[in-house]
Amino acid sequence: MRNASVLIGIQWGDEGKGKVIDVITSDVDMVVRFQGGNNAGHTVEIGKEKYVLHLVPSGIFRPGVDCIIGNGLVVDPVALMAEMKGLEERNVDVSKIMLSTRAHLIFPYHNIMDGIKEDTLKKEGQETIGTTRKGIGPAYCDKAARVGIRAAEMLDMVAFEKRFREQAERYNHIFKSHNIETLDINVTWEKIKVAATYLRPFIGDTVLAVNKASEAGKKILFEGAQGTHLDIDHGTYPFVTSSSTTSGGAATGSGLSPRYIDSVVGVVKAYTTRVGSGPFPTELEDDVGELLRQRGNEFGATTGRPRRCGWFDAVATHYACMVNGVDKLVFTKLDVMDTLPEVKICVAYDVNGTVTADMPYDITQAKPIYETMPGWMCSTEDVRCWDDLPENARAYLKRLEAIIGGKIFIVSVGPKRDQTFVV
Ligand code: GDP
Ligand code: IMO
Ligand code: MG
Repeated sequence: MRNASVLIGIQWGDEGKGKVIDVITSDVDMVVRFQGGNNAGHTVEIGKEKYVLHLVPSGIFRPGVDCIIGNGLVVDPVALMAEMKGLEERNVDVSKIMLSTRAHLIFPYHNIMDGIKEDTLKKEGQETIGTTRKGIGPAYCDKAARVGIRAAEMLDMVAFEKRFREQAERYNHIFKSHNIETLDINVTWEKIKVAATYLRPFIGDTVLAVNKASEAGKKILFEGAQGTHLDIDHGTYPFVTSSSTTSGGAATGSGLSPRYIDSVVGVVKAYTTRVGSGPFPTELEDDVGELLRQRGNEFGATTGRPRRCGWFDAVATHYACMVNGVDKLVFTKLDVMDTLPEVKICVAYDVNGTVTADMPYDITQAKPIYETMPGWMCSTEDVRCWDDLPENARAYLKRLEAIIGGKIFIVSVGPKRDQTFVV
């Protein structure tokens, strides 16, 4: 009996994946991150404690859960060490973390390169991507160009130092040509050496670990980062991240065959947010948008940037459910909409006069067509079961379920563990 499911954000990220993972891992054996890097910011609130995880899987607060950082990630060793030490200082056991031998590493030259690419777009008068500047794109570039450095290389310090210095020199040539300050390779190496020494005991063959757990019938949960519309193939290209954020990425990013993944959980906010540039048809640049931002505390968990807010986009989420094969839906942040007298759902786009409910590959010209429903105008924060939700809130969620596909599985009405119920 195999038992694996994937949890995916089905909007533009920050759907509340961290919170939901933490809630549903009470009976899970292994949590696996399979793509992205420390561009992710997954918030978990337990009692009075608030944690923001960037690379460490959100199962870390459940004793006994194995936490895998899979081959599909790009990992900044200095950032990972800082995150793990920060958790240790707060008495969180990090001994169950395993870092894939095959995961690619991010070095400071990738961060600098990320900045150069963004600044060049700006100088050329083009729209920037609005990246997190964590070096994600450049590290995936090196991986695809077959010059990347993998985590296993940290196991042989002499060879690792040589490889790092070679790559750093290569990048310093590029920086010189851009008249940008070069990287102090000696100083940088000293920091990397410390991180590599700390991380070495955690490096292992995660592909084997995941497959062995699966064969033994262990319950595995894949933790998606970012969201479907930031996927390198299915997102609003080029305003996307550089990895496969959709459910298919779980197989390639972990080494577990898709045959053994049997369920896909789609996490979705009751409205829409996006951080960074790119098209956003239902964006609200008015008082309602500001209300969602303030009530939802919509400020980036990684960069602190204010998130753009808007109405629920059922065209984009329907597409996302299709691409991911979502069978279970988790609605988060319903409580944020408690004070709205009416709520809107984008049910179709008008693209240059053509009305469509199928998401086109380019949505820059898409104008939202809305359906309006009455709000519920009362607090849902203390609701703990479906029947206790206000009737209008139930009608809103049921309508979304009907349009986008999948079945409502969980509703979240606040950031805390207990502000959640299974439907
Ligand atoms: P992730 O990247 O998908 O894990 O999401 P983030 O952690 O970046 O952003 C979600 C934010 O919403 C965090 O601050 C969570 O604590 C918070 N949150 C999660 N679920 C709920 C909810 O149901 N209601 C409210 N009000 N906040 C929530
Ligand atoms: P979680 O996992 C929201 C966005 C950035 C930018 C684009 C590319 O917390 O949901 P990158 O640094 O990846 O090259 O930036 O992707 N982005 C996110 N937006 N949540 C995230 O992660 C994100 N990770 C990247 O803002 O628009
Ligand atoms: Mg986030």
